Amino acid sequence: MKIGIIGGGSVGLLVARYLCEYHDVTVYVRNKAQKQKLNDHGLFLSSCTTPCRVNALLTSEFEQEDCVIVCVKQPEISAVLPLITHLNEQTPILFLQNGMSHIEFIQKITRPVYIGIVTHGALRKSDHIVMHTGKGVIKLANFSGNEEDLFDLVQKLNSEAFPFTTETNWHEILAKKLVVNAVINPLTAIFEVPNGEIIHNTYLMRLAKELCREACLVLQLDFMDQWNTVQSVAANTKENISSMLRDIKTNRKSENDAISGYLIKKSISDIPYTTFVYNSIKVLEIKKGIIE
Ligand code: PAF
Repeated sequence: MKIGIIGGGSVGLLVARYLCEYHDVTVYVRNKAQKQKLNDHGLFLSSCTTPCRVNALLTSEFEQEDCVIVCVKQPEISAVLPLITHLNEQTPILFLQNGMSHIEFIQKITRPVYIGIVTHGALRKSDHIVMHTGKGVIKLANFSGNEEDLFDLVQKLNSEAFPFTTETNWHEILAKKLVVNAVINPLTAIFEVPNGEIIHNTYLMRLAKELCREACLVLQLDFMDQWNTVQSVAANTKENISSMLRDIKTNRKSENDAISGYLIKKSISDIPYTTFVYNSIKVLEIKKGIIE
């Protein structure tokens, strides 16, 4: 299959690295230096010495693909949508973002859309080297395509080394992932700690529990179930740096609006812990000159 992956960040490179074993993969990136690195040297998984051949193009050079996987973060999603209008009406598009604010944009797309979440740990070491820091899975659910086509697609994408699964309810998978991100991401970014601290530091754990309670209230999920999930993600990724902490450290806009901001917008009552972390991340972004 000819697969187009939009975004050369950690998730985009990880997905490209595994899919290029069996497919003809093109990674669409924003800067020329990354395009050149990928085309000249190939794409490396840091644990392997042999690179994988991928094509790299700029997003402005977008071509027809059999399937497109959108891996950019929430703040860049609106810039991607015009590219999609050039695709064939039947081309399936997969969205793999944290948070839920991309749904508003996706609703306007007239191609078959499938929504997914990524539970892998990934770290971009450079323009063409990615580290797979924790084996997980990509869960996909139908949004505006159809179940049978999704099943066929997942069969083509799935492999033992890099599994894809189908789920029945896109809202549920995104909401459950959102709870994890609404707890782990802002706390680790504000306190500059790895994910494991959420459950190892008593005071952080108290804050984490309150954030989890608020997110569950807004998304109408069972608190105990989600709190158990948060704790196991924090334990399984204990040495990892969350994407939000990484974004702030590297002066990139975080997914604050799509995560805590989304919950604040959705909530019909006050959610003070979430509001506090949302404002705190904005403070850090202003302090670092990421936003004004
Ligand atoms: O955004 C992230 O970093 C990850 O989704 C998570 C779940 C917090 C684990 O590192």
